[in-house]
Amino acid sequence: MEIKKVGVIGCGSMGAGITQLCAQSGYQVVVSEINDELLKRGMGFIDKVLSRSVEKGKLSQADKDAIMGRIKGTTSTGDFADCDLVIEAAIENLDLKKKIFAELDGICPPHAILATNTSCLSIIDMAMVTKRPDKVLGLHFFNPAPVMKLLEIVKTIATSDEVLETSQKFGESLGKTNVTAQDAPGFIVNRLWLPFLLHSIKLYEDGVASREDVDNAIQLGLGYPMGPLTLADMVGIDVVKFVSDALYEQLKDPRYIVPTLVDKMVAAGWLGRKTGKGFYDYK
Ligand code: CAA
Repeated sequence: MEIKKVGVIGCGSMGAGITQLCAQSGYQVVVSEINDELLKRGMGFIDKVLSRSVEKGKLSQADKDAIMGRIKGTTSTGDFADCDLVIEAAIENLDLKKKIFAELDGICPPHAILATNTSCLSIIDMAMVTKRPDKVLGLHFFNPAPVMKLLEIVKTIATSDEVLETSQKFGESLGKTNVTAQDAPGFIVNRLWLPFLLHSIKLYEDGVASREDVDNAIQLGLGYPMGPLTLADMVGIDVVKFVSDALYEQLKDPRYIVPTLVDKMVAAGWLGRKTGKGFYDYK
């Protein structure tokens, strides 16, 4: 099956990044938000990122205009009626995602693939509210989606081989390297990354080293693009907590228990870059 038109549900940081990436790769994209204000913010973010590329001389103004011209913003899910693939990138709430999947199943054409960008929720639970569980799978992008080279493709026990193959080709068309995982807690990346991240936070919480030294040690000692505390601020401390709690709930493995500091930061609203304060100040 050929994918020509892609739908994206949600224009927050992941949804906006996925929308930009798909439009840059030549797809027609329709992206939805729950209200005009959030849609305007998400579209404005894409416009800003592309304008920066124009200023840096990495993209021509004509190419930027063509990319923006391929994106249609909407607040109506009815606009997904002619999509070949829809990628759901709403907030991490299983009941909400199930509601979205049931709605999409009624709107999208029978051949359409329905994908979720979830980091940690059970994908078969989303598939089973539709009449097409064989066409449901996970397409897990990494933040920032236009830049990070990986796409985690997550197959449930019901996903068909044909849908998997189409999704792999789609990932390649976006310039990503695909990895395939089963619908198991945390898939590959979060299953391996979170114990390391939570351990880094604990080291700082215990006063073993300053936040800067924890970050510098990993960034410079191991050649990571950014230190773990800086990365946690970028991902969002609430997201780190949600995904870790979900993995602990499913695996009962103490390596996924968040340090107390994470709970306190979430309670204080120190959620990282998006709130202007996390492990570091961004104001
Ligand atoms: N959206 C789109 N593009 C972005 C961007 C964003 N939010 N942020 C940066 N970029 C682009 C820049 O425009 C720039 O593009 P050009 O090279 O074309 O100019 C490029 O990325 C590099 O950006 P910068 O020069 O500003 O900064 P940098 O070189 O320090 O790179 C970074 C920034 C790409 C974020 C890099 O630090 C990095 O790779 N960090 C690690 C990110 C990471 O690990 N992400 C995974 C998080 S986990 C996750 O997402 C999964 C989950 O389930 C929780």
